[in-house]
Amino acid sequence: MQIAVFGTGQVGRTLATALAAAGHDVCMGSRTKDNPKAAEWVAATGGTASQDDYAGAASRAGLVLNCTPGNVALEVMNMAGKTPMRGKIVADLSNPLDFSHGFPPRLTVCNDDSLAEQLQRALPETLFVKVWNTMWCGLMVNPGLLQGERHTVFCCGNDSGAKEEVRRSLLEPLGWKAEDILDLGDIKAARGLEMYLPLWLQIYGALGHGEFNIRVVNGRAAQRA
Ligand SMILES: NC(=O)c1ccc[n+]([C@@H]2O[C@H](COP(=O)([O-])OP(=O)(O)OC[C@H]3O[C@@H](n4cnc5c(N)ncnc54)[C@H](OP(=O)(O)O)[C@@H]3O)[C@@H](O)[C@H]2O)c1
Repeated sequence: MQIAVFGTGQVGRTLATALAAAGHDVCMGSRTKDNPKAAEWVAATGGTASQDDYAGAASRAGLVLNCTPGNVALEVMNMAGKTPMRGKIVADLSNPLDFSHGFPPRLTVCNDDSLAEQLQRALPETLFVKVWNTMWCGLMVNPGLLQGERHTVFCCGNDSGAKEEVRRSLLEPLGWKAEDILDLGDIKAARGLEMYLPLWLQIYGALGHGEFNIRVVNGRAAQRA
């Protein structure tokens, strides 16, 4: 599948590399067609890896990953443009964090709205799925990293077909098992996923690393079987 990864940072590079290794045609999108960090990634990855600006990468993709900082994500979607993004599924990993007042960062949106909802409102014909924002990127691409323990990846979005595509094309090829994928419902559920970040940062500070995650233990799972 043709996948556009928006973002040349740690998250974009980690996901782009893993998805290319899983057999996808990955195009790294950024503000410019000749972004040097994207060029370095293309050279290191080889094969069908490519780079383009946001609009060019989106035009060719069936699926887009938003791996840009939350404070610029809306601007990035506008740069990609309504037409190239029309009908596209966007896996949104971004977090609405504002580091301008130091650490810990503030949430730029919370309670009765979320960044994912803002993006969905800005591009109503694009199918946003919030996913993976609640964990360190090393875990997104290697869920087996936690000493083989099970742990949970959440997703939410308004379109069930888009969530199914994210599961089939992104989560499962990177090792996520169906029983560890928890669909929280429509895009409003992104409020909780994004408001988890302050706690994530506290746990990160306490442990001194990002190799941890939540596992939702469903006490009634056996009764349904
Ligand atoms: N780090 C993690 O493990 C982790 C886990 C879960 C979620 N997240 C979320 O994932 C996202 C990406 O994290 P990251 O650490 O990889 O990001 P990052 O390094 O801070 O972001 C780099 C990307 O943002 C682009 N960018 C920066 N300023 C921009 C602007 N004004 N307009 C357009 N694009 C701009 C850069 O483009 P250029 O190359 O053109 O400069 C680059 O592609 C964040 O929202 C983060 O909260 C991170």
